[in-house]
This record gives sequence, structure tokens and C-alpha cells, in this order.
Amino acid sequence: MMSSSNISRIYLLIVVIASISLPSVSILFDEEKTSNVVGIGYESNQEQYEIISINETSSRKEERVQTEVREKKDRSFNPNSTSIRNDVKWLDDRGMQLDTTRGGEISKIDGVFYWVGTRPYTRKNDDHGDLYLYKSNTLGSNSWTFVRKLYDNPNSMGGASCQLNKNTKYQTFMIHCKGGQIYTSDSLDGDIQRLPSPKVIEEQKKLYKWGDATFFEDKKSGDNAFYMVTTRAERAEKTDENTFGIDGESRTLFIYRFNDKWTTLWRNPVASWKWKNREGFSLVYSNGFYYLSASMTAGWRDSRTYYRKSSTIKGLSAVEDKEMKFFPENNYMIKSGGSQQRQIFKAGKGKWFFLGSRHPSEDPSEYHKKYGRTIILPLKFKNGEPEVYWKYDYDTDLYNFNIRDYDEHFHGGLGHTNLNCSKLPNKSHCKRAKYFCKWNTEKSECKKKQKYQRQ
Ligand SMILES: *[C@@H]1O[C@H](CO)[C@@H](O)[C@H](O)[C@H]1NC(C)=O
Ligand SMILES: *[C@@H]1O[C@H](CO)[C@@H](O)[C@H](O)[C@H]1NC(C)=O
Ligand SMILES: *[C@@H]1O[C@H](CO)[C@@H](O)[C@H](O)[C@H]1NC(C)=O
Ligand SMILES: *[C@@H]1O[C@H](CO)[C@@H](O)[C@H](O)[C@H]1NC(C)=O
Repeated sequence: MMSSSNISRIYLLIVVIASISLPSVSILFDEEKTSNVVGIGYESNQEQYEIISINETSSRKEERVQTEVREKKDRSFNPNSTSIRNDVKWLDDRGMQLDTTRGGEISKIDGVFYWVGTRPYTRKNDDHGDLYLYKSNTLGSNSWTFVRKLYDNPNSMGGASCQLNKNTKYQTFMIHCKGGQIYTSDSLDGDIQRLPSPKVIEEQKKLYKWGDATFFEDKKSGDNAFYMVTTRAERAEKTDENTFGIDGESRTLFIYRFNDKWTTLWRNPVASWKWKNREGFSLVYSNGFYYLSASMTAGWRDSRTYYRKSSTIKGLSAVEDKEMKFFPENNYMIKSGGSQQRQIFKAGKGKWFFLGSRHPSEDPSEYHKKYGRTIILPLKFKNGEPEVYWKYDYDTDLYNFNIRDYDEHFHGGLGHTNLNCSKLPNKSHCKRAKYFCKWNTEKSECKKKQKYQRQ
């Protein structure tokens, strides 16, 4: 039970946040009116779901606050911007939302950041297998230039968990995605060629489903070592409860090494272990240790982040998971900054970042699309253990904050997650939760979701 002093502290907090940096918190105070939502529509452009019309005074109020905040802080395209703003949509130089979802990762090649990804996965979007490339010199969330569509995947279940890297030994650009998808090109302007998928993956496709993947160049080893981290689970019958059609109990992690050209995998994994409930992997090296992090499986919802740490890659199989610390702390409403871990990456000396995905298009009942599809937060190693700090707005270049310097993050469920009414300090917020359920096109899915036990 929450004491009344706690309650008032939390509400004081909302007011403070609303007044400084969170434009849309204002609708928290107007939920009686949100039942006037009249429909959910589909736009062919960027957004898959859109409220056609909210006939209410609160939306006007919300818009006013948003406009005021927008005027204060311009987030229009600036190729030199080093500032990251979280909880907003990230737009490219054309003013379009970045299509870097479905696990797209950032890499730094010859001093430039590249981000390769796809459009969100929804039933109504047949293009979600195509690969898009963006670049930025400065990493600011409004600094990304759309380079081009890299690959038109005829199979709508094409690229996911993709990452671009340069094999400096062969001067080739390589794109690796989950499920053994490998693409290569001599230049980023040139044709991209898709290569056959590695035998070890192809041979087992019938029995197993290959899951999320990430890729890691071990620069320290000095022998062009490049790895794929992925999971495999036994196939099972698809049911209402088991929509992905896999046996989660059998989920196993594999770390494979690539050949010298990074075009196929060696048959025997470097390391492997049973790893239930983990996805969204990232492998990095810092100060004598390899860190393999992963998010907890949770459908499209936000979830906790875990990691393993070892002085060798092989050694990762023999250590325990630790939970990654977030500031403010994970709670039943907001985990990992209201996201699923996608990547940990280093942008420069001592500058580490946590990249998290949100899925407002895939699951509008869990996220509000106005908060965007991606967050990037500063990550620091404190005594060799990674910690992540929630920040609304910060400068990636200055990177001038202290350990455990973070902003409060209290959304009251406004989009990051469904609310559990019985746990809410203020019961009137339940109406808000029901409102979010209305976003889902299928009532049955919504009911099913309400049955989930939150982890
Ligand atoms: C609960 O929320 C409603 C609407 O946001 C507000 O009017 C009310 O004062 C809140 N109650 C408490 C105890 O904070
Ligand atoms: C708002 O909704 C009411 C009833 O649902 C309707 O009569 C009215 O025309 C609507 N107003 C606008 C501006 O859409
Ligand atoms: C970005 O920086 C470059 C080099 O400093 C400069 O020439 C250019 O005008 C800047 N562009 C903008 C939009 O500020
Ligand atoms: C909501 O919270 C209550 C109290 O902690 C718990 O018993 C219940 O299972 C939760 N419901 C869901 C859907 O998680």
C-alpha cells in the first residue's frame, strides 16, 4: 500500500514534469473526456494507426501545451545536432519518421553513424521486410539523413535485427540480419547483393525457429573476428496463447563466429546455453570484459534488461544473469525507460548509449505513438557494471553528466504500458488504461492482453 504522502509526492512530480518537459501529461487530468474517441483509422503513409478524431476539449488543451513546448525546443532536422530528445517522434531530413524499427542497430563506420532498419511490423504493412539506411555525423535525434532504400525484400518477412558493418580487411560493407540474412556491397551507393544464408541456420529451419540476432566485431582480437549472437527455439503449434508458435522452454542462445569475409558462419558455435525469456541481444566489449545484454521477452511491451559479463566470449555461457540498473528504477509501469533493449553501443571514448525500442504501430494499446519508436539513453559503467539513466534531453557530444544523474520519469501509463488498476495510486487513471485498449483494432486481442501477468 502506498502512503498518502507518497501519493502526493508522485502527483507533485507529475505537475513538475508536465510543466518542464512532458507536453502531453496534461491529458492525464482530462480522462473523463477521453471516452469520446470516435474511431481508429489507417493511414497509408507512416502511421499504421491513427485516431481519426478525438472530439473533446482535452485534446485541444493537449495540443496547446505541445505547441508551446515545440516552440521552445525546435526539433526540426539539423545535420549538426548532437542533442537527443526522448519521448518524441524522431524525424529524418524529409520530415518522415525513421524507419529503423524491428531491431535496426546503429554502427559507426569511418567516423559516421549508420542506422539500418525496416518499417514497423503490422498486419497492414506489406513492406516491413525492406531495408532502409540512414546516416548522421553527430548522433542527434534530429540529425538523421535518409540515405536510401537499400533492399526491396520480396518476402514481407524480410530484414529484422539488421546491422551494417564494414569488413576493413576486404573493404566490403556487410549487412547482417536475423535468420541468416546477409547482404554485401562494395560501396554504400552501389548495388546490394543478398547472399545465401549460412548452412547451419538453413538446415535447422524446419525444426527450429531462429530468433533475434546481433552482430559483433571483436576488434581487440586482431584477427577479423566477427560473431553472430542469436537464439533458436523448437517450433510449436500456433495458438491464441502461443502466437509466435515456439516452445519458449527450449529457447537456446548461440554465438557463432563468421568466416573471414563475414559471408557465412562456422558450423560449431563458440558458446551456447539454454536461455529462456531473452531477446533483443547486444554484445559489446569494455575494459577487459564482454557484456552480452538482452531484454526479457514480453510481446511488444517494455521489459527489464539483463546482462552477462565475462572476460571471454566463451565464458559468457558459464556466468549468471544480472539485471541492468535503470535510473529511475524499473517499476511495474515503466521498465527500461519504457522500452525493450535493442542495443548498447559506444559512440566515442567513454560515451556509451542504450538504445531501446517501442512499438506503437505494432501494439498501440501499450505505447502512444507520439512518444516515438526509439529512445537513446546514456549508459555508464559504474565499477564495471552498466547503468542507464533516463534523460528527456541531453547532449551526446558534451556527455556531461555525473553517475546517476537522471530525470524523473512518470508517465502514469500514458502509452508506455497498460495499467494495472488495482495497483494505481489514483483510481481515476483506470479510465485511461481502458482508453488505450480501444486503440487496438481487435477487441479479442485486447482482452487477451488484459489477462497477461506483468513480470
Ligand atoms: C486523481 O486524478 C484526478 C484526475 O487526474 C484528479 O482530479 C485527482 O485530484 C487525483 N486524486 C488524487 C488523490 O491525487
Ligand atoms: C462531437 O460529438 C458529438 C456527439 O458525439 C457530435 O454531435 C458533435 O458534432 C461532435 N463535434 C465535432 C466537432 O466533431
Ligand atoms: C553544419 O556544420 C557545417 C560544418 O561546420 C556547416 O558548414 C553547416 O553550415 C552546418 N549546417 C547547419 C544546418 O547548421
Ligand atoms: C494487478 O495487481 C494486483 C495486486 O498486486 C495483482 O494481484 C494482479 O495479478 C495484477 N494484475 C495483472 C493483470 O497483472
